[in-house]
Amino acid sequence: EWTPDAFVETTVAELKEQLGDDRVILGLSGGVDSTVAAMLLHKAIGKNLYCIFVDNGLLRKNEFTNVLKKYESLGLNVTGVDAGAKFIEALKGVTEPEAKRKIIGNAFVEVFDEESHKVENAKWLGQGTIYPDVIESVSVTGGPSQTIKSHHNVGGLPDYMKLKVVEPLKLLFKDEVRRVGRSMGLEDKFIKRHPFPGPGLGIRILGDITAEKVRILQEVDDIFISGLKEDGLYDDVWQAGAMLLPVQSVGVMGDERTYESVVALRAVGSTDGMTADWSHLPYEFLAKTSNKIINNVKGVNRVVYDISSKPPATIEWE
Ligand code: XMP
Repeated sequence: EWTPDAFVETTVAELKEQLGDDRVILGLSGGVDSTVAAMLLHKAIGKNLYCIFVDNGLLRKNEFTNVLKKYESLGLNVTGVDAGAKFIEALKGVTEPEAKRKIIGNAFVEVFDEESHKVENAKWLGQGTIYPDVIESVSVTGGPSQTIKSHHNVGGLPDYMKLKVVEPLKLLFKDEVRRVGRSMGLEDKFIKRHPFPGPGLGIRILGDITAEKVRILQEVDDIFISGLKEDGLYDDVWQAGAMLLPVQSVGVMGDERTYESVVALRAVGSTDGMTADWSHLPYEFLAKTSNKIINNVKGVNRVVYDISSKPPATIEWE
C-alpha cells in the first residue's frame, strides 16, 4: 500500500543516491507542487538545493512577501527576485491574451536564467512536475514550462535548460502530492490554497496592464478571498478570483456622478479545472463583498458575479 511516509523515505534515499554532492536549481511558484518538490530535495541534499522565487508583479496582494517568509521558515535556501517592474514594462500596451502569456513566459525565462547563472556549477534543474503534467505535455503544449521551452527552441535553450532534470513528484497525482506535503509538515492552510494561474493577475486584467490596475485588482481580490476565508466558504470553492474589466460605468457617490471600472467576481467548483460550475455563494456574502469593494477600492464603482459554467465559458476570462 502506498503511504506518504514511505514515499518520502524512499524518494529521499533515491535523490541522495542520484544527486550526491551536485547542486540543484529549482523555481518555486508559490504552489503546492513546487513547494513539496523543494521540501523533498531539501531533505535529501540540504543547502545544495538553490530555490528561486520570482515576483512577476502579477501576484496576489502581499503574496510574494508572505510566501517567501513561508519558504524561509521551511528552511529552504531561497532567493526572492523582485522583477515586477520588468514584467509590467514588457507588458505595456499589450492587450491580446496569448501575447500577454508569451511575454510573461519569456520574461520569466530571462529572470530565471540570469538568477541561475549566479549558482556556480549547478548540474540539475528540479521541477514540481506531477503525473497529470507528464501526460498532458505529450498530447498538448500545456503547462508553463512546456510553453517556455517552445519559445526558446529557435534561438537555443536558455542555459538553465541545459541542466539535467530531476522531478521527484513525476509519478504522483495531486491528492498524493498533498498527502506527501502534509506528512512533511506543510500545514493545511498552504496545502488547500486554490490554484492560481502562472501569468497571475496578468490574465485577469482584461485589456492592457498597468501598475495601477494591478494595485486595484490586488485590493479587490484580497477583499474577496479574505471574505471567503472569514465566512468559512474558502474550502467549499475550488478556485476564486476577480477580473478587472476594461469597461467604465456610471455610478453615484454622494452628490457626485462617477465613471469608474467594473470588476467581475468568479468562484467555481471543480475537481480538475477541466469542467467547472459557478459556485452558488450566499447572496448575503455577495452583497457584503460588493459593498466592501466599492466602499474601499478607489476606481471601482460596480461589481458583478460571473454565473457561467465551463464549458462553454472558461474559468479565466482570458
Ligand atoms: P481555464 O480558464 O482554461 O482554466 O478554464 C483552467 C485552469 O487553468 C488555469 N490557467 C492557467 N494556468 N497558465 C497557468 O499556469 C495559464 O496560462 C493558465 N490559464 C488558465 C486556470 O487558473 C484554471 O485553474
